[in-house]
Amino acid sequence: MERRVPRVALGGDGYTISALIVGGWQLSDGHRAAAVDEAALLRDLAAAARAGWTTLDCADIYTGVEELFGRFRATHGASLREDGVELQVHTKYVPDLDELSSLTSESVERVVDRSLRRLRVDRLDLVQFAWWDYGIPGYVEVAGWLDDLRAAGKIRHLGVTNFDAPRVREILDAGVPLVANQVQYSLLDRRPEHAMVALARERGLGLLCYGALAGGFLSSKYLGRPAPAEPLANRSLVKYRLVVDEAGGWERYQELLATLDAVAERHGRTASAVALRWLLARPTVAAAMVGTFHGEHFAANLDALSLVLAERDGKEIETAIGRLDDLEGDVFGLERVADGPHSRIMWKNLSAERR
Ligand SMILES: NC(=O)c1ccc[n+]([C@@H]2O[C@H](COP(=O)([O-])OP(=O)(O)OC[C@H]3O[C@@H](n4cnc5c(N)ncnc54)[C@H](OP(=O)(O)O)[C@@H]3O)[C@@H](O)[C@H]2O)c1
Repeated sequence: MERRVPRVALGGDGYTISALIVGGWQLSDGHRAAAVDEAALLRDLAAAARAGWTTLDCADIYTGVEELFGRFRATHGASLREDGVELQVHTKYVPDLDELSSLTSESVERVVDRSLRRLRVDRLDLVQFAWWDYGIPGYVEVAGWLDDLRAAGKIRHLGVTNFDAPRVREILDAGVPLVANQVQYSLLDRRPEHAMVALARERGLGLLCYGALAGGFLSSKYLGRPAPAEPLANRSLVKYRLVVDEAGGWERYQELLATLDAVAERHGRTASAVALRWLLARPTVAAAMVGTFHGEHFAANLDALSLVLAERDGKEIETAIGRLDDLEGDVFGLERVADGPHSRIMWKNLSAERR
């Protein structure tokens, strides 16, 4: 693979990431039914890194993935470094809902130390902090404890995930130097545009975007097809099937897909490449995450980066988006509605269950 993934600066200290990030959720136990061929996957990840796709995303709660990325460093890190390729591994700190009111600086440090051990590094490149329930006080204090660990050298940069604009502002105003917010952002879900993009621009944050391909729904494999029957094949499809419904349902989503497919065909690319290209051109978007548990799509997704959308393409895409419903509220607002459809499918006490 030719090396051609743009680098994006985060945090102003010379730290750079690749504009595409390998998503690790798909590699966690419990995400999908299919087994992972680890040796083949690690070879594919190394090839992707040599092509410039050097940044990976995982989480303390993605069971087995920090360990897997640690093994990736151990098996391929030295030869990648010899070729001048440095990996960046982003993890998350996602405390269980049931423990939010009893966290201490010690319990936070224990989780960070565990991530360091699992990833086999002396310092975590980026820790993205999550908080399931704003009604439980403490997120600013916990962010401050993470900042102490940053100052102590255990973390290079701090970010958040799924925090809305007022809370990101609150954490920044408390003096915690966040560099990124990991949010859902795609042709189907443009909630970041309601408030987060403006805040990110004002405060110099980069958006690291998941759902970029809506778990695969933003690809032509679903074009002209009926909605897949339940049970769906993996957790991403369960999540983004709800997003398709929020955006107006299967028929209107099909119209968007048809537009993406037509644009893609004019350029000899895939509908997914068009979806990624659209996202990467949005203001304040630092990177798009793409999940994987095999290397099949790496080349096609790298191809998105050299796609140049013409004015006509942009207009057609905007018209198709305009026919969809705009999801309500700030980022992750619908997901926080107690007993709502999005909240019901989420596992909020994974650490305890997998301890
Ligand atoms: N912070 C959070 O709350 C949060 C939530 C979700 C995800 N994430 C992060 O974001 C990452 C991305 O996950 P996601 O759930 O949003 O899924 P996604 O990246 O939108 O979709 C991944 C799926 O898209 C399909 N795909 C990828 N490239 C394709 C291509 N070129 N053509 C056709 N299909 C393609 C693959 O499906 P097949 O393999 O079936 O073909 C793959 O499993 C995760 O791994 C995780 O790191 C974070």
